[in-house]
Amino acid sequence: MPEKKGAEGLSIGIIMDGNGRWAKQRGLPRTAGHKVGADVFDDIALYAKDIGVRALTFFAFSTENWQRPKDEVKAIMDLFGQALKRIEKYRKEDNQVVFLGDRTPLLPEYQKRMADIEAKTAHRTGMILNIAINYGGREELVRAAQQLAQEAADGKIKPSDIDNACIEKHLYTSGQPMPDFILRTSGEHRISNFMLWQSAYSEFIFVDTLWPDFTPAHFDAAVAEYHRRDRRYGGL
Ligand code: IPE
Ligand code: IPE
Ligand code: MG
Repeated sequence: MPEKKGAEGLSIGIIMDGNGRWAKQRGLPRTAGHKVGADVFDDIALYAKDIGVRALTFFAFSTENWQRPKDEVKAIMDLFGQALKRIEKYRKEDNQVVFLGDRTPLLPEYQKRMADIEAKTAHRTGMILNIAINYGGREELVRAAQQLAQEAADGKIKPSDIDNACIEKHLYTSGQPMPDFILRTSGEHRISNFMLWQSAYSEFIFVDTLWPDFTPAHFDAAVAEYHRRDRRYGGL
């Protein structure tokens, strides 16, 4: 019997895509898809924690998503505000929550809640739950470059001191494991500016399921697919 491998200890990134198409198929406004998508986010975060995932990163809103109609952006941000309220109620044994991205354009009230949640959960040892909001992989690398340039200008480091570890320390995911796999729903086969540095050796799993239809069974299937892959990291 082959060993049954589960999700324990894995770091996983999820590009939650397809909310709009899910709604359109039902003749509903796109925002209805985002609403169901937010429920699925809760279900999958809970499920992943239960099965021992180490770190789970959700792509909730990209730096490019501001280009969408104002009403849709507002609806997504309202749902994010509601998610923050639910996350604030997490119990002590629940996740360590980290927000990835530039939060300065968000409502001051949200920024405060985000800082509170991060401070309150920072010492937890359970699953790391990363929520990427106004996140872009390029923006993250630009920010790291700016911080390192500042340290060099201040004479704290020499340009030649900058190595991979140094850059990783300046990413939003500082200190965290790199994603073992990145899953994208909705049949799109692209990364759309998600975890550009971190995904250097991640496996990519693309499924046709639209995010609002995504279930724990689909999650299990993705984990099983991951275990069928042979990661070589450039070796043999
Ligand atoms: C993902 O679903 C959610 C966000 C990007 C915020 P979409 O809204 O991109 O849904 P589609 O891709 O248009 O179907
Ligand atoms: C990526 O999905 C961003 C999130 C899931 C938050 P998009 O729907 O914005 O990506 P594109 O536009 O199809 O590349
Ligand atoms: Mg999309």
